[in-house]
Amino acid sequence: YSVLFSSNFFSFTNIIKAHDQKSDYCEVNHCFNGATCVTGLGDDPFICICADGFGGDTCNLTEIGPCSPNPCRNDGSCEVIAPTRRGDVFNEYVCKCQPGFEGVHCQINVNDCANQPCKNGGTCRDLDGDYACQCLSPYVGKQCQLRCISLLGMEGGAIVESQISASSVHYGILGLQRWGPELARLNNQGIVNAWTSASHDRNPWIEINMQKKMRLTGIITQGASRMGTAEYIKAFKVASSFDGNSYVTYKGDNQRRDKVFVGNTDNDSTKTNLFDPPIVAQYIRIIPVVCRRACTLRMELVGCELNVYSNTAGCSEPLGMKSRLVSDGQLSASSTFRTWGIDTFTWHPQFARLDKAGKTNAWSPAHNNRSEWIQVDLEKTKRLTGIITQGAKDFGVVQFVSVFKVAYSNDGELWSTVKDENTDNDKLFQGNIDNNTHKKNLFEPPFYARYIRVIPWEWHERITLRMELLGCDD
Ligand SMILES: *[C@@H]1O[C@H](CO)[C@@H](O)[C@H](O)[C@H]1NC(C)=O
Ligand SMILES: *[C@@H]1O[C@H](CO)[C@@H](O)[C@H](O)[C@H]1NC(C)=O
Ligand SMILES: *[C@@H]1O[C@H](CO)[C@@H](O)[C@H](O)[C@H]1NC(C)=O
Ligand SMILES: *[C@@H]1O[C@H](CO)[C@@H](O)[C@H](O)[C@H]1NC(C)=O
Repeated sequence: YSVLFSSNFFSFTNIIKAHDQKSDYCEVNHCFNGATCVTGLGDDPFICICADGFGGDTCNLTEIGPCSPNPCRNDGSCEVIAPTRRGDVFNEYVCKCQPGFEGVHCQINVNDCANQPCKNGGTCRDLDGDYACQCLSPYVGKQCQLRCISLLGMEGGAIVESQISASSVHYGILGLQRWGPELARLNNQGIVNAWTSASHDRNPWIEINMQKKMRLTGIITQGASRMGTAEYIKAFKVASSFDGNSYVTYKGDNQRRDKVFVGNTDNDSTKTNLFDPPIVAQYIRIIPVVCRRACTLRMELVGCELNVYSNTAGCSEPLGMKSRLVSDGQLSASSTFRTWGIDTFTWHPQFARLDKAGKTNAWSPAHNNRSEWIQVDLEKTKRLTGIITQGAKDFGVVQFVSVFKVAYSNDGELWSTVKDENTDNDKLFQGNIDNNTHKKNLFEPPFYARYIRVIPWEWHERITLRMELLGCDD
């Protein structure tokens, strides 16, 4: 009177058509061995969905075989082999482990930090089959092996006048002395040798346009003396922008409050502050908070070019969907689908991890149309160079996304869609053709973003997606 569900049996076309029908759990569980009992499907009073390793209408039969139930842990796959002797033990199977796991049953999570891959005081975090280094500023790179400490050219002149602007300018001595932003150069000499904001300016700032995205690891500030009196900025904030329109105030590691930097204490000494973590931006704004007499500043920026060390080839690390560097909280979606309306079979965005195993092992939205999306918040701006996508099966039915768009954002509100370089239309990425193969697409050119959305455009059966993002910290 019912249909067998197990991972080895796939002909449920009649049931699958009932996908959109609302079903429910049985009031009394008629199924054995941890199976799920579902009612309200077709003519059958109930259906048992068996746990791995069990079969039969009520899941009371044990599937026999060395690989059933699967003895391999952590998504390892089991393969039956001719009986072999391994030490004192006879084995009829071998476990093929996922990266990052080892042991006869893949039971050991390899510590990828064991060889201390992070240099220069960086902190290592063990991931599934990978590691991540949290570098101390000014070190950067996968292993914190690179120093990002070039002087960017306020003092040296590589940053030219037209790149420096300010909210206002102080004019001294009957308007003859102009304390303009172009003078805000470290160790600038002369009688008029720094930037000073106008005394009526309640919200002063000075801004450098670096003309392309750079990584900043620090700032050196200095005051000046005017008419024999020391003037300087005692405390300041820093804001940055990619486009000169929307700015974010630097918060450092404290996600809640703006970071206030301690500035100068006299007219001449320099004060160095590090940005830890570094700032990646094209525009950087210094916002005085407390000034002595007037907001007067000479300065230098410390940092490095973004792509010196990493062309696309060197910037294609998995960003952590599979390894779980991207945590569940960083994943969200427009909606989620539940097979037969059952909570246990919810296709959460948190399941959209490449190679995820299990009965529900991908993201799937509630509706199949072009308004749906899945979003990754990388928590800081990264360079994105590609994406790997993968479909899945829902109780035997092969489902995948065959065409998709990609959108990205720096604030989670304003989105840009990746464009086709030749036509300037939204780029349509070719996706999957089956339930399991990895399909890789490159972003050409790469882009920088904190938030990424995948927007399914065409699909087979139902929108179903597992994925990995490729890129690097730069
Ligand atoms: C399994 O259940 C069916 C009926 O639900 C019964 O006929 C059969 O004997 C059971 N088998 C075992 C091994 O318990
Ligand atoms: C400015 O700094 C110099 C060098 O530290 C010092 O000699 C001078 O007295 C200072 N001037 C004022 C006005 O504070
Ligand atoms: C997608 O489906 C939802 C729910 O039926 C609907 O609200 C939305 O307008 C649809 N979007 C498109 C583009 O059809
Ligand atoms: C799904 O993918 C697996 C692994 O590649 C493959 O063995 C299987 O045949 C596929 N299933 C279907 C129904 O296409």
